[in-house]
Parts: sequence; C-alpha cells; structure tokens
Amino acid sequence: MSIIRIGQSGPLKGEVEVSGSKNAVLPLLAATLLTEEACEITDVPDLKDVDVMCRLLRSFGAVVEEDKGGKSIKVRAKTLTSNEAPCGLVKKMRASVLAMGPLLARTGRAKVSLPGGCAIGKRPIDLHLKGFRALGADIVSMEDEENYGYVEAVTSELKGVEIYLDTRSVGATENIIMAAALSRGVTLIENAAQEPEIVDLANFLNKMGAKIKGAGTDVVKIEGVERLHGANHTVIPDRIEAATFLLAAAVTKGDITVTNMLSDHVKPVIAKLRECGVTVEDGANETRVYASGDRMLTATDIKTLPYPGFPTDVQPQFMAFLATASGSGVIRETVFENRFGHVPELNKMNAGVTLAREGREAIVPGGRILRGAKVRATDLRAGAALILAGLAAEAETEISDVYHIDRGYSNIIEKFSSLGADIKRLPHTAK
Ligand code: EPZ
Repeated sequence: MSIIRIGQSGPLKGEVEVSGSKNAVLPLLAATLLTEEACEITDVPDLKDVDVMCRLLRSFGAVVEEDKGGKSIKVRAKTLTSNEAPCGLVKKMRASVLAMGPLLARTGRAKVSLPGGCAIGKRPIDLHLKGFRALGADIVSMEDEENYGYVEAVTSELKGVEIYLDTRSVGATENIIMAAALSRGVTLIENAAQEPEIVDLANFLNKMGAKIKGAGTDVVKIEGVERLHGANHTVIPDRIEAATFLLAAAVTKGDITVTNMLSDHVKPVIAKLRECGVTVEDGANETRVYASGDRMLTATDIKTLPYPGFPTDVQPQFMAFLATASGSGVIRETVFENRFGHVPELNKMNAGVTLAREGREAIVPGGRILRGAKVRATDLRAGAALILAGLAAEAETEISDVYHIDRGYSNIIEKFSSLGADIKRLPHTAK
C-alpha cells in the first residue's frame, strides 16, 4: 500500500490534459454487453475501476482487449456464459451494478451482489430495481449463508413503460436506459438524471442502433429495438478531474491551462471560482485559470445538486480551496447523506471546519494557514481534496489509503508534478 507525500507547492503553473471520464467509460463498457458484435471504446482513462469493469465483462464471457498505451478497449460479448456478477468484483466497485440492465435485456436474467454502502452514504439501488420491475422483471433479493446480500432480476420479456425516478439517480437512469434499449415498446423515464455521462451513454447506444431521445433532460424516451450492432465511441473528458485541476490553480494561486476539457460541463464550478475572485478564461476545449499572487481570494457558499447544479464530486476539493480563501463559506451537501468524511482529515491540517444541520452542512471558516499532516483518503474525491490541501499546506503532508485516488485519477502524480508540484508516491513504510 503506497502513500502520497506532498510538500508545499506553487504557485502551480503550466498545462495539463484531462483524461477520459471515469463515470462515462464505466456505463459505456457495461453497454457493450447489449450486442454480440464488436465495440471499441477510445480515450479510455488508465484507472483501477476500468480494470475491474474489464474483469467483470470477462466474467460474463465477453472477450476484452485492453490497449493501455493506445487508451482503447475492444469488447466482443458474442456469447454470454454467465449473468451473475462475482461478489468480489462488485465489492471492489459498486458501478458493477450497471451490468444488471444489459444482462437482463440480453439474457433475461441478472444476479448481482448488493454493493452495499460506502464512505459517502448508504447508496441503495432501489430505483434501479423499481425500473426493472416496471419493465416487467421479477426481482428477488436475498441473503445467502455467508450473509452476503444479492439481488436477482428475471424476465421473459421487457416491455416499455413510464417510470418516475423519485431521486435523480445517475446509475438508475443509465441502468434503465440500457435495459429499455432492447425492450418491446416505448419507455419514458421521468425525473431522469441529466449528467453529461448519461448523454455520452445515449450517444453510444444510438450509434449501436438504439432509439433514445431526451438524454440530458429530465425526460428520456427509449423506443426498444430487436437488437443492437457494434459501434466505436470516444469517451468524453472527465469533468471532475478537470474541476480538480481548476481548483489546484486556485488553491496555489497559480496559472494553469486545463486542456481536453468541456467548460460547459463545469459551469457551476467556474461560476463559483469567479465569485471567489479567481480569473477563468474558458475556451471550447481548454480553460485557463489563474489567481495572481496579490489578489485576495474570498470565500463563497456552495450547495451540491444533481446536474446541472454544483457537482457533489467536486465538493471535497472546493472545501480544501475554501479553507485557504478569506472569509467563511458554507457548503451544503444535498446529494449524499454522509459526504464529509474529508472534514476530520482537513481539520488535522488546521482547516477548522465544523458541521451543522445533522451533518448536511459544513462551515469553512477560511483564512487558514494549512499545516502538513498525516491524513487518510476516505474516498476518491476526499483523496483529491487532501492533495489540494497538501499543495497549499506548510510542511509535508502524507496521504494514506491512496488506492481510493487511483480508482478515479490516472497518472495523478505525473500530472501534478508537470505543473511544479512537490508530490511523490512512496511505499508505505509500516511504522
Ligand atoms: C454516480 O454514482 C457517480 N458514479 C458518482 O461519482 C456521483 O457522485 C453520483 O453519480 C452523483 O452524481 C458513477 O457514475 C460511477 P446516484 P451513482 O444514483 O449513480 C440515491 C465519484 O466520485 N439513490 O446519482 O451511484 C443515492 O443514495 C462517484 O466518481 C437512491 O436513493 O449516484 C444518492 O443519495 C462517487 N436509490 C443519490 O440518489 C437508488 O436506487 C444520487 O445517487 C440510487 C440512488
């Protein structure tokens, strides 16, 4: 288990290229199960979660060829030999549940161990199952002897239907779209999530011959088809990684040009950075962010919401920046019920954050001189926040449990080093 050691760095300067989106490539790979023909996904990020998804596809009988250098993955799910997701893989990556929709549509059955909660919340899959039931599947969830919970969906035929999502769930929207793509008739998903990753999935499915309209709005219409054919697709850039680098410029008062990013996908983050006095020049697929040394950066409040609101996946990183800006900022987390695991870790670095409203709100006093400390990444984005805090902090910061970070950020050390950061990955010396 390695650690990441960071020395006070900055101002960070230079150019950094964003990789393909983790939260787009995972559903895209799951969608390749919907056809027996070959598909190729390009601009794939080099992430642990992608490796797990490839292992999952192979466990169903798909042939998967990863070309890490070429950042491409070829998948051919010609014959499926299993429609059960191995428990070990689901435990590693909850996005394994995205295989349910395709397996159900392709084989009439899907069995997945319940992903269970994680550091940021209970994260149930009731809306995924509500969608499958509405489409005509029988759902059985059970505990087996070892007390592992799993859920099984079985159907002889999926029929189009109107489904209302009580919460704008990204995964449920994606899973239901994939199941409905091969159903008989028309499906309407109402109160659908609108994230760009859902639009990317719908674009890929439509290239495969699906008939999907309205992705990116709160009503998605899917006209089921008999079969889908193979297609090639390039993953959209990772908007969360892009936002993380925009914040790296702010927190170190640097000057960074982030390339291969779609500024349209991070509008709320750009708006909030501007409110704090950071200069943002956003172009079509690159954005320059700078905060000249003498200019005082001031705090603002943020409230996380489903897209197009402020993304919950950027909340921890923004908190790290607010800790260094002057004045107090309030962060309200409305998407997950427990997404402040990074607060105690940032407080070890003198951030002075307090929680309110039954832990749904964080008050960041700001104006703090962060101090280096030994901290732990509690989840993927919390880890990213600790890197940003470490860049600004006096003395060295050591982050453990960095496997969380490796799940969602490719070549993170190289990317930050290229901007002038004092950052290295070390083997974890047991103390
Ligand atoms: C996706 O997770 C992302 N992951 C998450 O990114 C992201 O934080 C989240 O969407 C919200 O934007 C991937 O795309 C792989 P949800 P997902 O279903 O689909 C509740 C990261 O750091 N809910 O939109 O699991 C749920 O508990 C990760 O990259 C139900 O109640 O999120 C949560 O409170 C973290 N029932 C809210 O909806 C359900 O059946 C939003 O969850 C499903 C969800």
